[in-house]
Formats: sequence, C-alpha cells, structure tokens
Amino acid sequence: MTFNFKLLITPKYNTRMKRTFLIVGLTSVFFASLSAFKPEPKTEPAVNISSATPKIAPMQMSGGELLINKSDCIGCHHKINKLIGPSYTDIAKKYPNNDKNLTYLADKIIKGGAGVWGKIPMTPHPKVSKDDAKLMAKYILSLKK
Ligand code: HEC
Repeated sequence: MTFNFKLLITPKYNTRMKRTFLIVGLTSVFFASLSAFKPEPKTEPAVNISSATPKIAPMQMSGGELLINKSDCIGCHHKINKLIGPSYTDIAKKYPNNDKNLTYLADKIIKGGAGVWGKIPMTPHPKVSKDDAKLMAKYILSLKK
C-alpha cells in the first residue's frame, strides 16, 4: 500500500477537517431552524390560494374592465350601485348588446353628455381612443344578466 497514513494525522489536515465539519454542522443547524419556522402543512393550501388570487384576477378581467379600472370612470360609476352616473348593470339592462349600441355608448364615453339618465352630465373623455371606448362599452354590456 502506498497510501500515506501520516497525512491523516498531520495537524494541518486535522484542523482543516475540523473546520469543514464545523461549517457543515452550522449550516445544517441553520437550515433546520429555517424549516422549523415553516407553516404547518395543514395551513399551506389556504395560504397558497389567497396569495394566488391576485395573480389570477387580472387575467380574468376583460380588457374593457381593466381600462375602466384604470380610468376616472370609477369616480362616477359602480358596477351595481348608482353613484353620480348609472351603474354598469343598469346601463347593460337598458341597452341590448349589439353593434349599434356599442358604437353609441363608445361615442358617449368619448364625447360625454347628459339627458339620458338625468340632468347630471357625464364628462367627455377625448383622450380615450375609439377602440378602448368600445372595449369599455363591450364590458359594460356584457354585464347583462
Ligand atoms: C363626472 C362623472 C362621470 C365620469 C368620470 C364618468 N361618467 Fe359615465 N356617466 C356619468 C353620468 C352622469 C351619466 C348619465 C349621462 C346621461 O344621463 O346622459 C353617465 C353615463 C354613462 C354611460 C351610459 C350612457 C348613455 O347614454 O346611456 C356609459 C356607458 C358611461 N357613462 C360610461 C363611462 C365610462 C366608461 C367612463 C370612464 C371612461 C365614465 N362613464 C366616466 C358620469 C360620469
């Protein structure tokens, strides 16, 4: 055998081995303590569902709904309650979902106006493009029950 057993007992090698064991030991203690703080497996599904919901929600929203939520519409309109303007579900009830009404409502969103629901006027939205206004109108009319 040519293996040098002296190497195993040389002081230099020994300290190095000790240090390695110490580091490995400390690391595993660290990870063990980390896993001790993990939530119980029982509660994990509930935590996952609630934290996943916001990620899924934007994907379920239509383009029109997103545009409305980003615009000032929410200051005057609510999905089911009348605010300053009529609720979206009331608008959907009033107008059949067809091309003519889509164009009319998109036009009204851009130009604003009063007299259909009362005396309070809707503010014009000249910065909203025709395509975006149509998407908004499409979303509103899709709320028909
Ligand atoms: C300053 C308040 C206000 C804001 C902001 C506002 N609306 Fe209105 N909206 C109204 C009022 C008031 C009416 C009722 C107008 C009428 O009686 O003709 C109305 C009516 C509507 C109608 C029905 C139109 C009709 O002729 O029946 C739609 C659709 C609509 N709004 C969409 C929107 C959208 C989309 C936005 C955001 C881009 C928006 N509104 C922002 C106040 C507002």
